[in-house]
Amino acid sequence: MKPTTVDDCSVLELPKIENPAGRITPIHSAGEVPFDIARVYYLYDVPGGATRGGHAHKGLQQLIVAASGSFDVILDDGTSRRTVHLNRPYLGLLMPRMIWRELVNFSSGGTCLVLASRRYDAADYIRNYDEFLQLKKKVTDGRR
Ligand code: TYD
Repeated sequence: MKPTTVDDCSVLELPKIENPAGRITPIHSAGEVPFDIARVYYLYDVPGGATRGGHAHKGLQQLIVAASGSFDVILDDGTSRRTVHLNRPYLGLLMPRMIWRELVNFSSGGTCLVLASRRYDAADYIRNYDEFLQLKKKVTDGRR
């Protein structure tokens, strides 16, 4: 399988239904997101200065949205790093499998909405950074 890189993490502009009384952003499974949505979860009440994430997923794909407020997502593919600032409910960061991520700098009241391609599975997580690097290297070496 092709190794994923931070350049594969793209920010999608989601549809906005405009109304003087406010906006709506609809998201469909295998529509605006390129996978079937199996799970939705959200992070909220994140204390100032907290870091979330700190892991990669073997198979899970996600769309990450700042449903309110803002935060930064630090992306790492084992070779390159990139930080994406999310601050609009109509922008979604598309995360392929096997990207290490940390979520930092949550604004007060910041809510991180996540649409995920699989149900929760602890075995899909890589929580050790050295193990992540080794797995990345294996995939890259396997392609040489
Ligand atoms: P985790 O994904 O590590 O949180 P974050 O990346 O935001 O820091 O999850 C924290 C805990 O919550 C962990 O014990 C697993 C549990 N959890 C579920 O049970 N179901 C879920 O859908 C998620 C995302 C987490």
